[in-house]
Amino acid sequence: MAAETAVLPPTERQYHSISSPYVLPNDAVEQDRLDAQAAAIVEMIGGAPFLAPIQSMTGISKAVDVGCGTGIATIQMAKVFPSVKVYGLDLSPVPEDVRKLAPANTSWAMGNILEVDHGQSTSNVMNREIFTPSELDYIFGKMLFLGINDWSRYFTTAAEALRPGGIIEHQDLDWKFYRFRTSECLSDGWEWHRAVVAGTEHAGLSTRAGSDAAKFMRDAGLEVLSIQTFEFSFVPSSKTPDSQAMGRDLSSEPGVHQKYTVTIVRKL
Ligand SMILES: C[S@@+](CC[C@H](N)C(=O)[O-])C[C@H]1O[C@@H](n2cnc3c(N)ncnc32)[C@H](O)[C@@H]1O
Repeated sequence: MAAETAVLPPTERQYHSISSPYVLPNDAVEQDRLDAQAAAIVEMIGGAPFLAPIQSMTGISKAVDVGCGTGIATIQMAKVFPSVKVYGLDLSPVPEDVRKLAPANTSWAMGNILEVDHGQSTSNVMNREIFTPSELDYIFGKMLFLGINDWSRYFTTAAEALRPGGIIEHQDLDWKFYRFRTSECLSDGWEWHRAVVAGTEHAGLSTRAGSDAAKFMRDAGLEVLSIQTFEFSFVPSSKTPDSQAMGRDLSSEPGVHQKYTVTIVRKL
């Protein structure tokens, strides 16, 4: 992970080429940001990337990290499960240097999980290998709120692919900002925030991907084992000058945060 990266003009950024509402870039600058964010989130939730009791899972053979980004959690998962086939799925390719370091039980795949369709061709690795019915033991997904525009379909697809007793761990963020250690929402009065929410909803995305996950999981027939919430906070700096307007609101009082929710469910 680079200590500092330059902020590139939007025209010089690179993006995925698969049909999806996901708008963030996939270049080296973004990969550094994702790695830094992943490390910060692990610290925030207590030092381990996964909160499901996966070390104690036995007799398992297949797991997936959906929207794996740079593959950082996929590799951690592959190390926890050395005898399990672990897939990292994303819209974008995982960086070559990460692929070289990955344990032999890791496989990488490209695709949009919302396009899993068992009535369609088995030439698609998602249909043929990853999401075959009742075979996955552990499905991990983290920070997917900008990429999933149908959460009902997402969790139905995941539930169908899970074997009975299998676990889904979903970690995601809501797009409201709260006062320190409270549920008092500050952002409803921020003009830029109203524009972000309107744009997000216009794209069919949810601003409550973290806190609504349990509802969609229950609707997909899954049993909720635990829901944990954390205060996710970030403060823009002089290195991100385009974010200064946002920074004025975010840093107007200490501890302004979003809700980050970790939901763990089991298939009965
Ligand atoms: C914010 S990044 C998070 C990456 C990684 N999970 C992490 O926490 O470091 C979201 C990732 O999900 C991927 N993604 C978004 N929507 C997706 C979809 N429908 N199917 C597969 N991958 C998706 C994006 O390409 C991006 O790499």
